Amino acid sequence: MDHAFENHKEYIGRHALELPTPSFIINKPTIEQNIKKLHADVATLGIAFRPHLKTLKTLEITRLMLGNGLHRNVVCSTVPEIVGALPLVKEGLLDEAIFGMPVYKSVLPRLTALRQSITIDLLLDSCDQLPLLEGSDTAWNVFIKIDVGARRAGLTTDSPRLKELVQAVEASKFANLKGFYCHANHSYGCRTEADVTEMLQHEVEEVVAAASFVSDMRSLIVSIGATPTAHVIEKLSEKLPSNVALELHAGNFPTNDLQQVSTDVVPITQQAIRVAADIVSVYPERNEALINAGVIVLAREASGFPGHGKVVDQHNWDVVRVSQEHGILGCTNGDEKVGDTFKVGEKVFLWCQHSCITAAAFYAYFVVDEDDIVIDTWIPWKGW
Ligand SMILES: Cc1ncc(COP(=O)(O)O)c(C=O)c1O
Repeated sequence: MDHAFENHKEYIGRHALELPTPSFIINKPTIEQNIKKLHADVATLGIAFRPHLKTLKTLEITRLMLGNGLHRNVVCSTVPEIVGALPLVKEGLLDEAIFGMPVYKSVLPRLTALRQSITIDLLLDSCDQLPLLEGSDTAWNVFIKIDVGARRAGLTTDSPRLKELVQAVEASKFANLKGFYCHANHSYGCRTEADVTEMLQHEVEEVVAAASFVSDMRSLIVSIGATPTAHVIEKLSEKLPSNVALELHAGNFPTNDLQQVSTDVVPITQQAIRVAADIVSVYPERNEALINAGVIVLAREASGFPGHGKVVDQHNWDVVRVSQEHGILGCTNGDEKVGDTFKVGEKVFLWCQHSCITAAAFYAYFVVDEDDIVIDTWIPWKGW
């Protein structure tokens, strides 16, 4: 069993340097600033906001992202995220969840059961998914997923299959077309603000183009976003048809990570997540050090930053290699000596490449204040 999970409460009141390792640390003031900024941006634009629960998967962050009832809808990538958020429905703060993967057969009975507790909307990207809905007691609200360049889920607006799907949904007794949804996953590859802004405009153009395939002027929601494009949402200048309402979705934005910093639209200091690890061994002959955070903790995610994680207080040192539980620190800039930099028995804090994946490795998160004192622990929802 994970020691941090078993004993998490006993670390409240202690300094982050006293945590067992590896540990996942959340800086509460930074998380709050990141959320406040996005809430202010969508308020200025007057558009709706729908947080995705996939990054930290806890009640505490969901409450913060919803602004305690200011925003009332979420998107979830797993059933446990929906189930975990249900207390907020009971509290009157949450109305609706989109299941964020195009619907598949084995999940439908679980989503159907959940409809007694919360409104569930589905994503579709194929006519072959419509027969799965046949026989449902009540028609499902559906968003058609548009591929705006990520080449993950969705149909491109130039695909004849998109028009077919729009027509099939319009004709179905079991589906109500609520709108179009795209996720700019590929915006993680941007390296300048100008590129991210261009991608944001492209997202909007594409969902608006998709909306033009609908046969009548019914009200539609077009839901766009990904954390990089959400970071520049204040640059939005697109005009929308009168029947179309814009909604922004984002999930990673409270935490940020090296991938977000790489896009050049968020400063390195706005990362709210760190991993604590021990210096286990130091090897002067190869100028490297061993830490107890490997691929399970840090993942093999890439960004503009080298390796698998950056040492927070030693920016020239990165995690250069990982195996399951071992990580190797190396000097990637300059010629600093490992023996002068790290000592066996010390702790290091690391920024990770992708906080969503790193968070998934942990069963308890330690929440710290501006002085790095643990003020709370959050327990994430696990599983699929
Ligand atoms: C369907 C969908 N919507 C929204 C998001 C949120 O994206 P981000 O974490 O970049 O904000 C994701 C993330 O993977 C997603 O898969």
